[in-house]
Amino acid sequence: MSNSPEDDVRRVAIVTGAGTGIGRSVARELAAQGHRVLIVGRSEQALVDTMGSDDSIYPLATDITREDAPAAIVSTALDKLGRIDILINNAGLAEPSELSGLTGDSIDRQVAVNLRAPMLLTRQATEALTAARGVVINLSSAGVLGRRGWPQFSVYGATKVGLDFLTRTWAVELAPRGIRVLSVAPGVVDRGPGGPMGADAEQYDQFLAEIAKRTPLQRVGKPDDVAWWIAQLVKPEAAFATGTIFVIDGGISVT
Ligand SMILES: NC(=O)c1ccc[n+]([C@@H]2O[C@H](COP(=O)([O-])OP(=O)(O)OC[C@H]3O[C@@H](n4cnc5c(N)ncnc54)[C@H](OP(=O)(O)O)[C@@H]3O)[C@@H](O)[C@H]2O)c1
Repeated sequence: MSNSPEDDVRRVAIVTGAGTGIGRSVARELAAQGHRVLIVGRSEQALVDTMGSDDSIYPLATDITREDAPAAIVSTALDKLGRIDILINNAGLAEPSELSGLTGDSIDRQVAVNLRAPMLLTRQATEALTAARGVVINLSSAGVLGRRGWPQFSVYGATKVGLDFLTRTWAVELAPRGIRVLSVAPGVVDRGPGGPMGADAEQYDQFLAEIAKRTPLQRVGKPDDVAWWIAQLVKPEAAFATGTIFVIDGGISVT
């Protein structure tokens, strides 16, 4: 809930990739906490499903990799909701492949969604975030922490390492403007039916069970586990945290 005097105004968040998974939970959690939320994704129906009957959530169906997307997203937030306090760069794309199978198109797609789009959207939102003394959260991954490699996820992992570097650098660059920048690095989170990356339901369930066994807390994450933390990190009370990576992974990265 909002607690500080400047929060008498309802704060506004943009959440990309909010039609499914973690983004959907984040949008709903922020709305439940009194924010107004612009949700972005390509599938209009998925965004409508995220909204349900919550009139604090406003949808914008667009592909964040389009050249005109950053301007469209920021101007929609300002025109419809009046300000931007929080930007959650959540949309992400993984196309697993070993080096031998990599294609230029697949590399470009992952870099475009996971790195280029957050760069251009954050740049576009900087002025509004400055006015609000806002917060940027980049969705990274616990899979890229430490010194391990990650077979089949070289491109995805490289984009997430890159995102963490953007977090550190922007935290320094944007601190004089009063903007905080954080990475949130989830471990494996069950996105629910459908499964990711072309895996069939049975393969996905097996994968989740295997990860749960290796995790100190003996389970995989839920989107709400991550959303709750994000909702804490964007609060005014979290004002001294910037430039760091919050890991939410049941402890698997310390094993
Ligand atoms: N789930 C995990 O285990 C896990 C672990 C670590 C990190 N993460 C990270 O957490 C974030 C959310 O993950 P998730 O599991 O919730 O993923 P997800 O369910 O696959 O959601 C990704 C969202 O991004 C949107 N998206 C993809 N490309 C887009 C584009 N070009 N333009 C606009 N929207 C686009 C998708 O919607 P449309 O297809 O409708 O556009 C989708 O709603 C990602 O950054 C992911 O890398 C996830």
